[in-house]
Amino acid sequence: MNGEKRDNWSSGFGFVMSAAGSAIGLGNIWKFPYVCGMNGGAVFLSLYILFAVILGYPILLTELAIGRSGQMNAVDSCRKIHPKWGFAGGFGIIGSVAVLSYYSVVGGWVMRYAFSFISGNIPKADEFTLFASKTAEPILWQMGFIILTTAVIISGVSGGIEKVSSFLIPSLLIFLTAMMIYSCSLPDAVKGVRFFLIPDSSDKIRINALPMTAVRAMGQVFFSLSLGMGTLITYGSYLKKDFRLSRGTVSIIVIDTIIAVISGLIILPAVFSAGIAPDEGAGLIFSALTEVFGRLSAGRFLGSLFFILVFSAALTSSISLLEVIVSFLSEKTNLSRAYAALLASAVIFLFSVPASLSHGILSDVTIMGLTVFDFFIFLSDNIIMPLGAFFLCILAGHLWKNDMLYNELTSGNTVRFMAWKAYLCLIRYICPALIIIITTAAFIM
Ligand code: TRP
Repeated sequence: MNGEKRDNWSSGFGFVMSAAGSAIGLGNIWKFPYVCGMNGGAVFLSLYILFAVILGYPILLTELAIGRSGQMNAVDSCRKIHPKWGFAGGFGIIGSVAVLSYYSVVGGWVMRYAFSFISGNIPKADEFTLFASKTAEPILWQMGFIILTTAVIISGVSGGIEKVSSFLIPSLLIFLTAMMIYSCSLPDAVKGVRFFLIPDSSDKIRINALPMTAVRAMGQVFFSLSLGMGTLITYGSYLKKDFRLSRGTVSIIVIDTIIAVISGLIILPAVFSAGIAPDEGAGLIFSALTEVFGRLSAGRFLGSLFFILVFSAALTSSISLLEVIVSFLSEKTNLSRAYAALLASAVIFLFSVPASLSHGILSDVTIMGLTVFDFFIFLSDNIIMPLGAFFLCILAGHLWKNDMLYNELTSGNTVRFMAWKAYLCLIRYICPALIIIITTAAFIM
């Protein structure tokens, strides 16, 4: 890599779409609605938005700045700022394995649903639990998802990520908005809208659940914005010097949050309309949407389209995750990219098998009181990503010379950065403190 000319994003729009392509995935469409449903709806949404502003914005901006200044992979970009701090960019290597181990299970579920709709067997609402608890079938689908992710990485098509994302993200936005309008017009949908947007008085009872809700909301912000694992350092390293970092950061966060909120406004009204419990858990979108599409005459077509779009969004995220491991292995060892990809995906597959089985025959096996599937979620969202982000804040806020950081953020003093003082205060003190307090709470609770 040294000495070779590095690729650049062809335009600022292409970069924002690609970063949004990594950020937007199962985290927005599958996870956000169900975690929100399990944690009291509106209270969770409020905390989520608060954390997206005070944690998401400064940390995402920091990752992009580190990457653009370093012009190298995540570990070496951090090392350029401080020779002993390469590890701060390395959390993605273990983190990506942890995330992909359960991401591929859900990716497999999405593929199975897309296939069912296309072939005309629209599944019933209660079929999900039965399907997920099977032994062999979900594992075959998740294997399919891992194979596709690996194939994209090996064939180098991920270079086309900018083109794919520039088409996919706007399509997703249009299609999901139309679905939201439909979903909100279903009978009793208003109950779901209220649950999602308005904290009601009975939420007072949940006040003692607040620390746990905060833990989940923070983890969801990290996960949804792809933070703490060096992904955005890598993306930032392909940015041109005149790109306005702060403005780009705001756009990525706004698009990601809009897609999450729209997904909430599709799923939760449908859940209340169908009389499903909002705290059902990981199967929520599958049960709720089969119910909705099942009622429509064009349900087969719309359901197919929906699951294909979700699958594409999941794939642009999973390749960004696998790429972290593959680029590291192929730059640091003498493995070729193809071998590195095969090795990494074999390890991921091994971990993903117990994650899948924890919905069926391994449902009694727990680690720290969590099923294997939930343990991977906890490990990545509540431990690895926050810790990675914590060290990146210390690196940029305390070890990087202030004027150099300022210089990077303002493209050499050519663009204004009005939030500089607030930003510095956030990455130096507020973000690290919040991360430590909330992560500790996750263990005590
Ligand atoms: N943000 C993605 C989602 O919401 C998942 C993801 C992709 C991710 N790349 C990441 C999460 C890097 C953490 C780090 O589905």
